[in-house]
Amino acid sequence: MSESIKCIQNKEARQKNNKVSVRDFNLEETKKTKYFHESFDVYSQTPLVRLKNLSNQLGVSEILVKDESYRFGLNAFKVLGGSYAIGNLLAQKLDLSIEDVNFEMLLSKEVKEKLGEVTFVTATDGNHGKGVAWTANQLGQKSIVYMPKGSSQHRLNRIKAEGAEASITDMNYDDAVRLATKNAQKYGWEVIQDTAWEGYEDVPKWIMQGYSTLMLESVEQMHVMKLDKPTHVFVQAGVGSLAGAVQGFLTAYYGDDRPITVVVEPNKADCIYRSAKNKKRTFVTGDMDTIMAGLACGEPNTIGWEILSDYADAFISCPEYVSANGMRVLGNPLNEDDKVVSGESGSVTAGIVYSLLKDEKLKDLKEQLEIDETSKILVINTEGDTDPEHYRKIVWDGLYPSEM
Ligand SMILES: Cc1ncc(COP(=O)(O)O)c(C=O)c1O
Repeated sequence: MSESIKCIQNKEARQKNNKVSVRDFNLEETKKTKYFHESFDVYSQTPLVRLKNLSNQLGVSEILVKDESYRFGLNAFKVLGGSYAIGNLLAQKLDLSIEDVNFEMLLSKEVKEKLGEVTFVTATDGNHGKGVAWTANQLGQKSIVYMPKGSSQHRLNRIKAEGAEASITDMNYDDAVRLATKNAQKYGWEVIQDTAWEGYEDVPKWIMQGYSTLMLESVEQMHVMKLDKPTHVFVQAGVGSLAGAVQGFLTAYYGDDRPITVVVEPNKADCIYRSAKNKKRTFVTGDMDTIMAGLACGEPNTIGWEILSDYADAFISCPEYVSANGMRVLGNPLNEDDKVVSGESGSVTAGIVYSLLKDEKLKDLKEQLEIDETSKILVINTEGDTDPEHYRKIVWDGLYPSEM
């Protein structure tokens, strides 16, 4: 038996005083972000999948999956952040604002001449590095990517295929970030890191804003599909940049009427959950050897944590089988429901929803989170099968069996 599912509720999330500003994620800012992304040739919105049969089977009104496995052909949402940060950084170098730049002009001869050669560096489990490498490559610039120890060879090869100089280090994620920063100072590279710390907040803020495109698309899609706003949003966290962006957007967009938000992490790297428990930013150290490689981060993003500690309603820490169940449920749809291919970090939100709706031991928690037959639940599938061999071991061979 692995560790159990644990939850901390944030009763203060609905208080109306002492709140941080979520202006960076308001509609005006988010529209700018989406507009920039739309300028890429490969842009199209990712599907919002309505799992009608699954919601009937599990006894809720809706289960919607924002399927980021389709993002830019890169199998994960992460490129939204890296590309927007690079766009902003280059705009700044050109003395322009982000509204004045787009993909085509960043590729133009005059702009390339003005910018010269720029090298971007980052540390990543894979998905973020792929996004940075892809963007640099598209814009004719260079990228260096450091991956933590234990990273998948397949993911390394995919990053190299995007033109990056990439390697797997013998460090954990947080130490690989420190290496990227140190070498950037030494060689004059630009750090495009998907987490913030004191003194390094511009790039991570842009990265978080980049993620908000997926939320603006989701609300637009719900509108077109004539669906009501969700009652619950489940979002996974590594350092909490994505979760902070999702929460920032929901807070700015819906105000006090926003959905109940639940942040989900693996037991082995639950820094946001522990921060919520201790009511202060708390680190997890060591190897954090979870199958949810994208969530294997031990140091919360300062900006993300500020937003989440103020506004997120609940924080869940869960064992590996929850993510494996999510992969199996989404990969084996009921009747005419669409199939969603979801990797280990992508599936944990669907997995926890499945547990909450199915596992009798979680009945009280389900009630505390106000989930009932009227609930309309949105989960974000943040990645597809980014490690295809491991995907098959879980979905075909039943690795990490259910413990419900
Ligand atoms: C697939 C996937 N999902 C979720 C996350 C978590 O994002 P964050 O680190 O911003 O919390 C990551 C981060 O790399 C990821 O790769």
